[in-house]
Amino acid sequence: MQVYRTCTCPHLGSRFMPSSKLLLSLNFTNHFITPSNLPTPKFPSSIAATMSTTVSTQNDTTAQKTHHPVQVAKRLEKFKTTIFTQISTLAVKHGAINLGQGFPNFDGPEFVKEAAIQAIRDGKNQYARGYGVPDLNIAIAERFKKDTGLDVDPEKEVTVTSGCTEAIAATMLGLINPGDGVILFAPFYDSYEATLSMAGAKVKSITLRPPDFAVPIEELRSTISKNTRAILLNTPHNPTGKMFTREELNTIASLCIENDVLVFTDEVYDKLAFDMEHISLASLPGMFERTVTMNSLGKTFSLTGWKIGWAIAPPHLTWGVRQAHAFLTFATSNANQWAAAVALRAPDSYFVDLKRDYLAKRAILVEGLNAVGFKVFPSSGTYFVVVDHTPFGHENDVAFCEYLIKEVGVAAIPTSVFYLNPEEGKNLVRFTFCKDEETLRAAVERMKEKLRK
Ligand SMILES: Cc1ncc(COP(=O)(O)O)c(C=O)c1O
Repeated sequence: MQVYRTCTCPHLGSRFMPSSKLLLSLNFTNHFITPSNLPTPKFPSSIAATMSTTVSTQNDTTAQKTHHPVQVAKRLEKFKTTIFTQISTLAVKHGAINLGQGFPNFDGPEFVKEAAIQAIRDGKNQYARGYGVPDLNIAIAERFKKDTGLDVDPEKEVTVTSGCTEAIAATMLGLINPGDGVILFAPFYDSYEATLSMAGAKVKSITLRPPDFAVPIEELRSTISKNTRAILLNTPHNPTGKMFTREELNTIASLCIENDVLVFTDEVYDKLAFDMEHISLASLPGMFERTVTMNSLGKTFSLTGWKIGWAIAPPHLTWGVRQAHAFLTFATSNANQWAAAVALRAPDSYFVDLKRDYLAKRAILVEGLNAVGFKVFPSSGTYFVVVDHTPFGHENDVAFCEYLIKEVGVAAIPTSVFYLNPEEGKNLVRFTFCKDEETLRAAVERMKEKLRK
């Protein structure tokens, strides 16, 4: 059974399209029509609706309405609309200052934007080479050498992807078999669990607990088994701002070598390492050959919308990553890749200034949150800080965030979504400081004024 819509959207042209492709495009749902000769839709009970879209005829006076349950493959059934979209939507609705989703409210550097404009003018507008524009692969290898001391082959060990999100997906889909065990540290960035689910992995999580979110080494040791294929870690860590210490990384490295386990490291906040040195796990002895290092341009250059990312790995692991990447996106934006190469060759002063600016922002937010009465946990890196909201007496993090948006006018992210067991995050919420100082001050003022214990 297919439902067809007459497309009146100027971008799509006037043609019939199967509804399944458009069900998620909520703006269009009112235009769906059901040809009268098609039978009533039947859906397997396993995907019976908890949500549904309303399909109406074009003739509103007859108002024949059919409810169509949303459809999703089993591998993604348990995942909801991402929390970032939900919070941002609610923030807009209530005019809240958005300290939830981690996107800067200021623009990326002129020299990088100019490079992209120039690349477009120079005709870099057709498909790029699948695993990256050669000059960007070289720039990534140069940057990695500067940061870690490791020499990598830009042709054989660097794969350019559509943001780190795609590097994560390509790594999971290219290197994990159904049934393989993968260990995560909770709280974890939400795409990890979803892409591991798509890969059919068996996910185990080890919880990092406040106040310092240290790795419980004995628990990690006892969780690793013969079935463990990989450990996925993120340093500096979203949402806590924790940075993995050299000692923790050394222990993880020796456990991985001992048990022949791969490591996937997400280092998108590596240039936002404030209170200690960022260490790439790949740079520890014996680790490069078993590590995929993932990163992107978005956070370092305040260009989250560009979605230029990469995965660095030895050739035998790069093979799997590239096989998945070839069929996920094949290649990413050509012109933006040329500009990304310019960005990565930025002078050291760029990175120094970036940190200085973020340190000032962090100070405003952290001081403000303390003054408001939160218990604030130390954030050594990233542009996030996690607090305990329980002094304010709300049932859990979701209830608190809803109250904060609707009654106080500030948006934060409930952290329970970052755990396999949401209960573990129910006392914590995450604020971001990737906003201009005026916005951060205004958010703090609102909380000082309206947040009551
Ligand atoms: C830990 C982590 N990894 C990956 C990403 C996604 O990176 P990109 O925007 O480059 O896809 C984010 C974005 O917020 C993140 O916080």
